[in-house]
Amino acid sequence: MNTEVFNAKTQKENGTQYAGRVIRSGGLVAFPTETVYGLGANGMDGEAVQRIFDAKGRPSDNPLILHVAKKSDVKQLWRHVPDEAKKLMDAFWPGPLTLIFVKSDAVPDEVTAGLSTVAVRMPDHKTALALIRAAGVPIAAPSANISGRPSPTTAEHVLADMDGRIDVVLDGGPCSVGVESTVLTLVGRPTILRPGGITREMLEQVIGEVDVSPAVLRPLREGEVAASPGMKHRHYAPDARVVVAKGSARKAASIICREYEIEEAMGNRCIVLGTEQTRACYHGMNCDIIGDRDDPRTLCAELFAALRRWSGKADVIFAESVDAEEQGLAYMNRLLRAAGFDVIDS
Ligand code: TXA
Ligand code: MG
Repeated sequence: MNTEVFNAKTQKENGTQYAGRVIRSGGLVAFPTETVYGLGANGMDGEAVQRIFDAKGRPSDNPLILHVAKKSDVKQLWRHVPDEAKKLMDAFWPGPLTLIFVKSDAVPDEVTAGLSTVAVRMPDHKTALALIRAAGVPIAAPSANISGRPSPTTAEHVLADMDGRIDVVLDGGPCSVGVESTVLTLVGRPTILRPGGITREMLEQVIGEVDVSPAVLRPLREGEVAASPGMKHRHYAPDARVVVAKGSARKAASIICREYEIEEAMGNRCIVLGTEQTRACYHGMNCDIIGDRDDPRTLCAELFAALRRWSGKADVIFAESVDAEEQGLAYMNRLLRAAGFDVIDS
């Protein structure tokens, strides 16, 4: 299959109109959102949705998010719209918040992997919204990467994984948030299943107490039921070992310096994903400064791109842990999974 690429700025009208027709006729379109690039298909067409799983090599038990262009579209997708959802949609949509509630009969089983609930979000990105409108249907879309690899935050990342497997890529430049949306279930007590750009603190200001699933910062335990099927699967792995150093900036940096030397002596190629605060600690070492520890949003924006940059080029990628608060929770969730929970404490 030949994958066509459209520039979302210079070929705006043609690109989105054409891509909308591709979606309506059952094809696959990768498109930018504010979080990461999505791999979209007609969310009301089970056969089209199945093609997403085939193109990504995605485990068939992992449900997809439906993307809508206006809030009222949730009425056709959920059995009813709970009050908490109304408040959260008013506060955070369009934006990086996915809401899960009991599905309506209109939603095909392929989207929900057979679950009785469905995840919905309205992305905060002009091209994504224009595409959904052009398609005229909700668009089912996971991240546009081969299953298990870091999520794509540029069109180049999408093509590296998906060239020849999908019909169209809309190139809208780099994504601003850089990690996937916050996933919140409203079935039972509101619970964050995956942290993201909309933080627990922000959600609690609107609906009161919100739980965080315990598996957000640790692996699932043997026999533990996954609140979200996505928790079970290996994620974000580059072709390199990823090692996380715990502790304060200074402590994490000193662990990294020590381990770097050991790995290098064994002939392994090393890279440090450093921060503004620790730049000087890594003098003379291979270091890629990815952001500011005091503003974990900057780290989120760069993490996946940095993992892809060093994938296959380094044997070991070292990274510092940060406090798992506010956007730091999303950062640590992705980093720990990319590392397969390979953490060095002291
Ligand atoms: O920012 C995002 O959310 C991006 C962009 C493209 O919108 N999409 C994305 O999709 O990250 P995906 O498929 O890579 O991640 C969706 C996550 C998975 O962990 C999945 O298990 C979970 O949401 N999920 C989806 N539907 C669910 C449901 N009904 N119940 C529990 N978890 C669900
Ligand atoms: Mg994904």
